[in-house]
Amino acid sequence: MVTLIKNIKSLINIREEDELLRGKELSILPQVNNSFLLIEDGFITDFGSMNDIDNRINNQPLHIIDAKDQFVLPAWCDSHTHIVFAGSRENEFLDKIKGKSYAEIAANGGGILNSAKKIQDASEDFLFNESWKRLNEVSKLGTGSIEIKSGYGLTVEAELKMLRVIKKLKEKSNLNIKSTFLGAHTFPVDYKDNHEAYIDLIINEMLPVIANEKLADYIDVFCESGFYNVEEMERICNAGMQYNLKPKLHINQLNSIGGIQSAIKMNAISVDHLETMTTDDVKHLSASNTIGTLLPTAAFFLSMPYQPARQLIDSNCAIALASDYNPGSTPSGNMNFVVALSCIQMKMLPEEAINAATINGAFAMESQVLTGSIKRGKRADLIITKPIPSLAYLPYSFGSNLIDQVIIKGDFIN
Ligand code: NIG
Ligand code: FE
Repeated sequence: MVTLIKNIKSLINIREEDELLRGKELSILPQVNNSFLLIEDGFITDFGSMNDIDNRINNQPLHIIDAKDQFVLPAWCDSHTHIVFAGSRENEFLDKIKGKSYAEIAANGGGILNSAKKIQDASEDFLFNESWKRLNEVSKLGTGSIEIKSGYGLTVEAELKMLRVIKKLKEKSNLNIKSTFLGAHTFPVDYKDNHEAYIDLIINEMLPVIANEKLADYIDVFCESGFYNVEEMERICNAGMQYNLKPKLHINQLNSIGGIQSAIKMNAISVDHLETMTTDDVKHLSASNTIGTLLPTAAFFLSMPYQPARQLIDSNCAIALASDYNPGSTPSGNMNFVVALSCIQMKMLPEEAINAATINGAFAMESQVLTGSIKRGKRADLIITKPIPSLAYLPYSFGSNLIDQVIIKGDFIN
């Protein structure tokens, strides 16, 4: 069966080539007004102007959607999340309201360690079911591709449990999913004074099993004062790279300690967070092929300064936008809000934000051949908006649900 979407007000982000966008390129969003799109067996097979439609459809049986006054765009590619977790942390949210900082909460056994306790006590089935619900939630909000990290296990057993849950999500879900090993999220309490012993566990106990069972695509480290220093990050990444896990890293959330330069040296796919950037950090990033992944909803929720998106774009960096969905710093996986916030607070143009959340997000999980733009042969991962006056209306009307339908690999999910 062929699905035809016709009378589309504008079909957004049509690209012949899969190119990572940097600097000024981010503001160009190619589109065709008054258009149609064809889907067959989960993939985009054709699209074009409504003027040409008669020549392009040869008496096929059609499931027809009339998208008059509606925009169609590629589904969001959320390249940084932690959606496998066992319980919420609104108590810490209350502590924050009363004045405690994120760093203070973490130093008192809250934060990542709080989530780790919950994961260690949870069964694999329970974790799978909870994560499955979150996956359904974000797919209804337009996310078609998602990266998911471990990092709330912090023991050999619990880290592997998280990664096995992600593997099962990959097998059962229609979404395009990538898996990242983040054993180095923080140091477990028992290793507080013996960092070397925990790093030894990561390198010699966790990584060989992960490689053997093909449990991860990437390796991540939280490189930050009070967490992992640059030298520790490099050792862990080098061990991961021996097993073909490329680095995608948490860098410069709270401090700039040289992580950017080191990540670039290791050819990291992306450096994520970037709330705290020096001029030198920006210069290095712009001269590299590493993607800067901005997580504005984390800055929003923690009341921290936003990532310097304008400075990064104007310096010719390649940037992506992601949600960071997790129970501590971002209890939301709504990419529509990520896009809106990046326009409202970081002064990104709607075109820049949509590119950063689609094609560049796809690059940040090496999925650009599969998804992230409208191209023949790519997965039919699409958002059909409600009737709206313009594309800028999406971030402008930030609290409204403007999605009419989401299509993931050809399936209508709303
Ligand atoms: O990306 N900053 C490090 N890790 C997560 C949050 C961890 C947590 O608070 O549970 C993040 O924001
Ligand atoms: Fe994160």
